[in-house]
Amino acid sequence: MSDIKILLGGDDQELVATFRAVMVELTGFELVSIGKTSNEVLGMVATEQDVDVVLIDENIGPVPAHDLVRDIAMQRPNCAAVLLCTTVDESALTRALEAGARGVLSRQPSLEELQSRLSTAAEWSRGMSKWIGGGHVDAVGGRRGRIVALAGAKGGTGTTTLAVQLALAAAQQPGRSVCLVDMDLQAGDVPSYLDLVHRRSIADLIDVAGEITGTMLADALFMHGDGPHVLLAPSDPERSEDVTALATRQILGALRSRYDIVLVDCGTFMTEGSVTAIELADRVAITVMPDLPCLRAAKRMVRLWSRLDVRKSEDVVAVLTRQSRKNEIQPDFAARILGLALTRTTVPPAFRALEKAINNASLSRVEDDGFRRAVRQLAGELGVLDSAAVDPGGGKRAMTGAP
Ligand SMILES: Nc1ncnc2c1ncn2[C@@H]1O[C@H](COP(=O)(O)OP(=O)(O)O)[C@@H](O)[C@H]1O
Ligand SMILES: [Mg+2]
Repeated sequence: MSDIKILLGGDDQELVATFRAVMVELTGFELVSIGKTSNEVLGMVATEQDVDVVLIDENIGPVPAHDLVRDIAMQRPNCAAVLLCTTVDESALTRALEAGARGVLSRQPSLEELQSRLSTAAEWSRGMSKWIGGGHVDAVGGRRGRIVALAGAKGGTGTTTLAVQLALAAAQQPGRSVCLVDMDLQAGDVPSYLDLVHRRSIADLIDVAGEITGTMLADALFMHGDGPHVLLAPSDPERSEDVTALATRQILGALRSRYDIVLVDCGTFMTEGSVTAIELADRVAITVMPDLPCLRAAKRMVRLWSRLDVRKSEDVVAVLTRQSRKNEIQPDFAARILGLALTRTTVPPAFRALEKAINNASLSRVEDDGFRRAVRQLAGELGVLDSAAVDPGGGKRAMTGAP
């Protein structure tokens, strides 16, 4: 059985320290996140699908602990909530159970108590998950789409180009709903690539992020004719600061429950929003051009994510862009410098074809076979296209840039 994933909700330093310390002592359990406020906890529960047990301090706020337990039960009926109480007695237990919790636990539990309560709660949660079929149940019928985030080691490496191309490719697969999110909050330029004008952006969702409905999304998103729906970055870069980690969790959570594929262009500047997207994504790819400054920048960025506990470098892949056999730096060497896995697919240079496509506002028809093939293969590798939908003709290690 995989480790039991625990989320802790509480802002009391001492309590947090106590639990951090005892959790280390227990094997088979992993404390995955800590939410300070009830809103934060709810956001995490909605987005971190594999949490088994949520421990909630009875003093959490602003939404009182018992109400939070009720909200969690609504959002994730398979997630076991356990209340941490100063006084553990029958009335505390009754109140907790009435709210939908699986039990109560002292705020200073012994190791044995913690072990036994967590095991029982997790057993219940996993049994429940099997019964309701695979875990996440949300307001719109239990869908859980795939989030794929792209970031650029440096500006100009082709992150936005790839995000747009992958979104267009994914949307061509029949029955697949795709949303492209411009999370490059400082310098998002998806509109100019897709030749679209739209007043609404992610900024319009921030204030309502905790209660996003389909109508709100329909209002905020741009519905592109070639398939993907697009959530733009704020037109005023100053608003990027308002895109907090919590808002991002909630917004991406809402998108993931409505779209099969959510592609996020995180750009190059790390903001709370883009870092959170990197953290939440099922797959993260960093675009790198085959030159040393760019490779080093990528390495720095991935190290930073790892240091900040945003994402482990084993969970990041690099995509070599504008790669051809003529380059001095070839994939194996790039991988060694980066210390990262590379995607099998590399993206060939396609200056003319891209320029023409952008000028004609026809990015879905880039007239370069090698480039188009690379995009489809990459889409397959990153899981935004089913492998059956990827062009059959392409080789395994797609050195599509080869002249
Ligand atoms: N594979 C490629 N070959 C040639 N030019 C490319 C390629 N990918 C992107 N470009 C061009 O590079 C420029 C920067 O691309 P962009 O996607 O905006 O980069 P980023 O988002 O990483 O800053 C654009 O003019 C784009 O057309
Ligand atoms: Mg960009």
